[in-house]
Parts: sequence; structure tokens; C-alpha cells
Amino acid sequence: FKVKKPQNEPILFYEIGSPERTALKGKLKELKEKSIEIPVIIGGEEIYTGNTGECVIPHNKEHKLATYHMAGEEEVQKAIEAAAKAKKEWAEMPWQHRASIFLKAAELLAGPWRATLNAATMLGQSKTVYQAEIDSACELIDFLRFNTYFMTEIYNDQPISTNESWNRLEYRPLEGFVFAVTPFNFTAIGGNLPIAPALMGNTVVWKPSGTAVYSNYFVMKLLKEAGLPDGVINFIPGSGSMIGNEVFKNEDFAGVHFTGSTAVFNTMWKTIGENIDRYKTYPKIVGETGGKDFIFAHKNVKINQLATAMIRGAFEYQGQKCSAASRVYIPKSIWSDLKDKLIQEVATIKMGNAEDFDSFMAAVIDQKAFDRVKGYIEYAKDADDADIIAGGGCDDSVGYFVEPTIILTTNPHFKTIKEEIFGPVLTVYLYDDEDFEEALKICNESTPYGLTGSIFSQDRSVLIKMEKALGQAAGNFYINDKPTGAVVGQQPFGGARASGTNDKAGSKLNLLRWTSPRVIKETF
Ligand code: ALA
Repeated sequence: FKVKKPQNEPILFYEIGSPERTALKGKLKELKEKSIEIPVIIGGEEIYTGNTGECVIPHNKEHKLATYHMAGEEEVQKAIEAAAKAKKEWAEMPWQHRASIFLKAAELLAGPWRATLNAATMLGQSKTVYQAEIDSACELIDFLRFNTYFMTEIYNDQPISTNESWNRLEYRPLEGFVFAVTPFNFTAIGGNLPIAPALMGNTVVWKPSGTAVYSNYFVMKLLKEAGLPDGVINFIPGSGSMIGNEVFKNEDFAGVHFTGSTAVFNTMWKTIGENIDRYKTYPKIVGETGGKDFIFAHKNVKINQLATAMIRGAFEYQGQKCSAASRVYIPKSIWSDLKDKLIQEVATIKMGNAEDFDSFMAAVIDQKAFDRVKGYIEYAKDADDADIIAGGGCDDSVGYFVEPTIILTTNPHFKTIKEEIFGPVLTVYLYDDEDFEEALKICNESTPYGLTGSIFSQDRSVLIKMEKALGQAAGNFYINDKPTGAVVGQQPFGGARASGTNDKAGSKLNLLRWTSPRVIKETF
């Protein structure tokens, strides 16, 4: 089967007077005018449980966008049953038709749904227009199209046959249901984690993040409009630990597709281990977890290029990308020039309402995030071995605003250079130029994570040395670029160490986890 390799969806820039700008502005207004009720969706049935949570606008926290209903134990069981009921027909549907449904969803999202999902992401997750566009439009469209292409590549991968015998690989779905647990920070990841296993013929129980229920509900509606049969993906917001406990004791649990914290993933893994005797099959455990992503600079760099990578890598989406730069290693000889440039750039950052089309940053996701990030900034303010050289202000009177903050430390093991903060805080450590190799070693060893990282140098032999020394430090490794912004099909995404199972979202490797192949040999 030949399927055309997709192109990445072009980014729209929402210029003044453009039709996409008018449409998006209209949607923002429309969504803000009316607070909605979001049900649990099981087997296509909308269930209003009465146990509710609220979706608010993080940059305008008194504005309620929605009331969402949460699943209890009964709904989790119902969702598992609905996934089981839908399974046979879905798994037996010709794959071309499964693909068609998701390709249609991509077309709807590229067209009439684009404004809705971008507006929902801007409001519910406080993303600026550009950050929403690259996430809830382009990346989700890319996941839908590229996954379909990768699926056909997998299905085409067949073993060698002989004149006397024919060997076939049948790419069966897993035996049971898949549990998708998704984060707030990317609507595209919210969509991809249930969609990827579903495309491969699995049915899914999906627990979205409480702080992304709003946009994720629109993803469910989009999939429904594209023709996804009821019960293939079951949408159950609610308590993660309760839902996890119900799911992990079910004998039909066949796999988990997770993005979230390392601590939660570790707990899941242990719970799955404790329940292992119950399952019909060994579950697939796929997780993308924490990060403490680095930028390591050599003295021979282009200062402007490095400064821009630091600013964009650390502060876009308020530093709430798992890939965000949060620790930087700089040789002392370039610091003075770099510092001037950084301070100049931070001064131009416009932080504000995500709905203003010229904001570069908006609010962090909720009060808990605000308090956590502020706590780290306060810690640095009080520390003897650190200085705040930019930002440091926090204000939650209207929304959860944290200024882009740069901390300079003389201690390579300072708290903010080791621990994941998940906010707009960048810590810089200066090393003596002659201690370059020792600094590389510190960068490699000072955190348990291995998600993303960038190296900067204009010297090829130095780049080779750095790439080797940091060989296990990042699953997505960038040379002379920021460590964020992986594009589906171009930079398959994921890390190892405490950052996850490195199953590379946006590639064939990820889809391979959602199939359990059978080899069939027939002799003539
Ligand atoms: N895929 C996202 C990025 O690379 C997390 O920034």
C-alpha cells in the first residue's frame, strides 16, 4: 500500500486583517460568553455525574469557562466495559477506514475546527496565539496525518517468504484496552495519546488532565464529527489515583500511554507490577515524564543565537514544556556579552493576557503551579550562592503570572539547577573556560533526567566532543538551537533515564508499542 508521506501543516501567523485572525477572535469571544457543562463520555453517552470541577482562564482566574463532570468508580468500570464492547468491531474494521476517520479529523482541524481548538487552548491553558497554533492546530494535525502514514509503513513491513511457504505478519491490536493519561501542557499530546493506540485498532480509556479538560473535550467532539465510533475512546476526567487504581486492577488492562510527572509514572509502574498476575497479557508501559533540560555553551559561540535560544527555550509557554530549557552552562569568558544581550531581550518580553495577539508569555496553569514556581524564586532570592539577574516578580491577583526569571549561581548543584520547576525560571551556572570537560561531566550527571538538551559551538571538533560526553543526557539533542519545538516526523520526541521510556512520539517507534504482531506461516 502506498500512502503519500505527509507534509507538516504550515503555521498560520494571524496577521491583522487575515481571515484566520477574524475567525479566531470570533471564537475567543464566543467561548468566553458562555460557560459550558462538560460531561464524562462513555460509549458515546454523555454522563453528568454531579461531582464536578471547574475550568477557569489561568490569566483571568475569576472567569469560568466550564463545569466538568468527573468519573467515579462506577464510570471507570463503565468506560472499561464500553472499550471492551467497541473493540471487536473497531479492531476488525479495515485499517483504511480507521485511517480515514483520523485523516478526516485532520482535515476538519486544518479547516473549520482550527479556530475552536486554538481558542479553547488559549483560554483554558493560557497559550498565546503562536503557542496554541503550533500545538492544537499544527502538531495535532501532524500527529493525525503522520501516524496514519507510519501505520501503513508498519503494516507493509512483512517477513521473507519462500517458494514453498508464505510468511505473513498480522499486526494485531493489544488484547485488552489501553489507558491514556494526558497532561495539560500540549493539547496535541492530549489528543495523540489516545489517538495513536486507537489508530492501531485498540480501544481506549482516556483520563485528561483536570487543567486541560476544556480543550480536550473539544478534541472528543472533533473526533466524533470525523466519525469515530462510540466507545473507541472513552473520556473520563477525574481523580488520577482513583481512576488508576480501578484501571490497573482490571484483567483487560493491556497498556498505558502516559505523559506527566516522573513520580506519578513510577507509582503507576509499581501498581502495575503489584497487579501483574491479574492481566491476560504483559501490559505495554509507555511514558514521557519529567525533564531538567539543558543548554551547554562552549566559548566559541554566536552570542545572539545563544541568547535567543535561551529566551525562547526557557520562556515560551511560560517554561511549561517538558522540553523547556531550565539550566544553562556558560563559560565565564562570554558571560559579560551574553548577560547584556539576555537582559536586553528579557526587557522586550510582553507578558500578559494570552488573548492579546502580541503577548509573548501569559500565565502559568494554576495556583499550585504559581505557588511552586514562586517558592523556587523565593528560595533563590534568599540564597547566598545565587542572584536573580532578571525577573523574579510573581502576581496572582488577576491570573497566575510569573515574570521570566534568570538566576545566576556559583553552585553547580544549586536547587534550581537540579530540580524540575516547570515554570519560566532559567538557572545559569558559569564555569571556568579551562574546566570545560569537568563542566560537561557536571551537566551529564547532575540530574536524573534525560529528555532534551542543546549544545552551542562554532567549532566542529568541540561539537563532536560535547555530543559524545552528553551521549545519554538527552533523547532530543539540539546543536546550535533551542531544546524545544520538536516537529512530528522531523524530530521524534522522547527521553530516557527518569524522563520516560523513550518511545518517540511522532514516529513509527511509538505506534509499534500499540500492536502485538502474529506471524502466520502457510506451507504449500
Ligand atoms: N514536543 C514538545 C517540544 O519539543 C514537547 O517542545
